[in-house]
Amino acid sequence: MSQARLKIEVARAALRYVEDGMLLGVGTGSTVNAFIDELESSGRRLDGAVSSSEATTERLKAIGVNVMDLNHCGDLELYIDGADEVDDHRRLIKGGGGALTREKIIAAASRKFVCIVDQSKCRPILGEFPLPVEVIPMARAFVSRKLTGMGGRPQLREDFVTDNGNLILDVRNLDLINPVKVERDINQIPGVVTCGLFAQRPADKVLVASESGIETRG
Ligand code: A5P
Repeated sequence: MSQARLKIEVARAALRYVEDGMLLGVGTGSTVNAFIDELESSGRRLDGAVSSSEATTERLKAIGVNVMDLNHCGDLELYIDGADEVDDHRRLIKGGGGALTREKIIAAASRKFVCIVDQSKCRPILGEFPLPVEVIPMARAFVSRKLTGMGGRPQLREDFVTDNGNLILDVRNLDLINPVKVERDINQIPGVVTCGLFAQRPADKVLVASESGIETRG
């Protein structure tokens, strides 16, 4: 089965968590795009959605979903999003699409986070995928030096500005054996908005699509 097909299968499986009248958090990326397509075909009627990126907002509006400002909502019942890497403890690397900060805010504001991936995203230890770190532009060089001091090899994502007007450093070579500590340490560097580790608040459920079907973790 192609990776695109696996994304559709896992997107469809996520629908079982979605109920009419829900206020839903929606992430960013190609797996989420498949989820938005499946949401449309399902005929579910959401009360509204909070989106993690301009790209997702556009897609949600195109299928008639009321996209709301998180400031005008309480906590959300459910957040659906993809990931770049997932470990066996449902900890994630996210931000390949550059939407990590809004994704982390929505995950924190949601009672349940259901992460949808195909099996190519699963790792015993996180860190093969370079860790995205969103930085305030004036702090780019300073944060890079700090990340280098932690053993990382940061690289500026070329020609990319986040929806928040910031930059992304993609960091290779970090030791992520203790991702909770690394997440905390990086987030404490002045100038860092947030890093793409979702370890302090991992996903509550991870749905993994493979040739043999959908595995539910958590
Ligand atoms: C977006 O910033 C990321 O966190 C995405 O969740 C991640 O890149 C997954 O994207 P795909 O579903 O396209 O693999």
